[in-house]
Amino acid sequence: MTLDHYPATRAVLDALHAAAARDARRWRDRTGTTDATVNAGGGGALVRLGEFYLAVSPDEGRLLYILARAIKAGRIVEFGASYGISSLYLAAAARDNAGTLITTEVHPDKCAALRATFAATELADAITLLEGDARETLRPVSGPIDMLFLDGWKSAYLPIFELLRPSLRAGALIVADNCTHAAAADYLAVVQSPASGCITSVRDSIAISCVLP
Ligand SMILES: C[S@@+](CC[C@H](N)C(=O)[O-])C[C@H]1O[C@@H](n2cnc3c(N)ncnc32)[C@H](O)[C@@H]1O
Repeated sequence: MTLDHYPATRAVLDALHAAAARDARRWRDRTGTTDATVNAGGGGALVRLGEFYLAVSPDEGRLLYILARAIKAGRIVEFGASYGISSLYLAAAARDNAGTLITTEVHPDKCAALRATFAATELADAITLLEGDARETLRPVSGPIDMLFLDGWKSAYLPIFELLRPSLRAGALIVADNCTHAAAADYLAVVQSPASGCITSVRDSIAISCVLP
């Protein structure tokens, strides 16, 4: 088990993971695929697909927690909260590192659900939710940022990376989920290029990049 030192958060996460598993079946019936990235690239899809969880698995959540703890990330930014599953793993790590999470979500119904979800955990005061298009709401966010998790629509990965790149500290990690989706090809090309100042590894469609000193 993970996060047992936050029992309320653990209970909320268990319920969210169960709901996300049910939702994945609904997604499969609607789209005919288990590919959670289908149709998620275009700008018009910003809210249209917003009803679905499309969440990280428990194992991916633990990976986020481990990475954030390992680099002592106290200032973490997330693009795409959905119903808050990944947010809670990241917020727990941020809190355990004496820091905070800034997360983002554009879908109004999900924002309302997120406020209630975070309030039901021990982590509410470690989370700032920015409501609206992250390409705008993240503009005022200052550095240094220790870790960035990209999990909104893939066509916005590159604009958000470019927006926050000056604020990412040396040694910061950028984790990009579903990065082999065609709409994230521009992002992947940039972080795999030495000019980005990052070194990047891709496995199971998750790209992990480190900002080199
Ligand atoms: C794949 S889901 C995120 C899943 C979540 N990270 C988790 O693991 O629980 C993507 C979410 O990003 C949101 N999103 C997409 N584009 C966005 C944007 N430009 N600004 C803010 N949120 C966005 C969608 O509404 C959707 O809820």
